[in-house]
Amino acid sequence: MAKYKIAVLPGDGIGKDVMDAAMIVLDKLGLDAEYKYGDVGWEFWKKEGNPLPDRTIELLKSADACLFGAITSKPKDDAQKELAKELQGKGYTYYSPIVRLRQLFDLYINLRPAKAYEGNPLVIKGGIDLVMFRENTEGMYAGVEFYPLPDDIREAFLRHSKNMQAFRDVPNDEIAVSTRITTKKGMTRIIRAAFEYAKKHNRRKVTLVEKPNVLRETGGLTVKIAREIAKEYPEIEYEEANVDAMAMWLVKKPTEYDVLVAENLFGDIISDLASQLVGGLGFAASGNIGDNFGLFEPTHGSAPKYAGQYKVNPIAMILAVKLMLQYLSEHDMAERVEKAVSEVIKEGKVRTYDMGGNASTLDVARAIAERL
Ligand code: NAI
Ligand code: MG
Repeated sequence: MAKYKIAVLPGDGIGKDVMDAAMIVLDKLGLDAEYKYGDVGWEFWKKEGNPLPDRTIELLKSADACLFGAITSKPKDDAQKELAKELQGKGYTYYSPIVRLRQLFDLYINLRPAKAYEGNPLVIKGGIDLVMFRENTEGMYAGVEFYPLPDDIREAFLRHSKNMQAFRDVPNDEIAVSTRITTKKGMTRIIRAAFEYAKKHNRRKVTLVEKPNVLRETGGLTVKIAREIAKEYPEIEYEEANVDAMAMWLVKKPTEYDVLVAENLFGDIISDLASQLVGGLGFAASGNIGDNFGLFEPTHGSAPKYAGQYKVNPIAMILAVKLMLQYLSEHDMAERVEKAVSEVIKEGKVRTYDMGGNASTLDVARAIAERL
């Protein structure tokens, strides 16, 4: 029996293209694994009314980790919109499989590295080597939202916050509220994960990205937790940055930063900014990690206009493979993948269109595999 069971969910559009590329690399690497393909995404919503069939959830439960391509999650053209309407009329509601999976498997870490590979023509600032730990289950994404504002919620707000007085004349149907939920458990586990990563990978600094001067309660709780945890890691420098200043500093002096940790929304925004500094979607991989499971994906979507053409850059997906190998503690293999990727980028002979070349998705994968 193989050492690992890996669930492979290519999904829709270019998810399939880049997954084929990832498998070329994995085959060459010789990871002792059994790969089990599963169904997910728009295609299955269309066929079965469910973008994440139960059999896929069962498959993931029996696997050690999952590689995820990309899915189409919102209708783009008129034909898709028509179809979405028709299916919704039949009682099929679309939900995001990736969000559902984060909840089902409590994947509370969203790990998003941003590294400037030498020779990458798309890199805006050289020398960057950041790792973002984004909280993945709460914050503004908790889904606790109101519109119109119910009377009892309004009254409770008025009772408990004098600042609500400023909105007392706004009618319920003219006010929408989204809440940012911060829990001690949620922030403790993500901040600890960031420090543990820093320790394990010899990183020098952890920066908490927050806004406690304005978001006093949620931000205040987070800062308090972070300062306590930081004391347990005296060998790692700890600092705090406001999220707005962070956006500026990342553009100005990105090499000053190392490991970043943030709640859900701030982490989402800052990691998108960081990924653009190092070449954009073709290079951005992410891990969704919990205590018992990890799912690894490129952050790009299904790019329907390139679907099946094997034109897009597979490097983000291949870097997701690297993150999975790290998660499985196959550090040697993870390093080999990263080294091969960086060599192919530096050499500059085999490049997809986004990097100014005309190689195919699979050509790039083969070039990387050859250097393993
Ligand atoms: P997208 O990321 O799919 O593509 C945007 C554009 O970025 C593409 O048209 C292409 O020019 C470029 N691009 C993306 N990946 C690339 C790659 N590997 N190499 C080179 N160029 C690349 O975003 P879009 O068009 O907004 O969304 C398409 C679909 O994907 C939507 O249904 C959206 O909801 C979904 N989506 C799914 C995600 C996921 O599966 N995790 C994440 C983001 C979007
Ligand atoms: Mg995003």
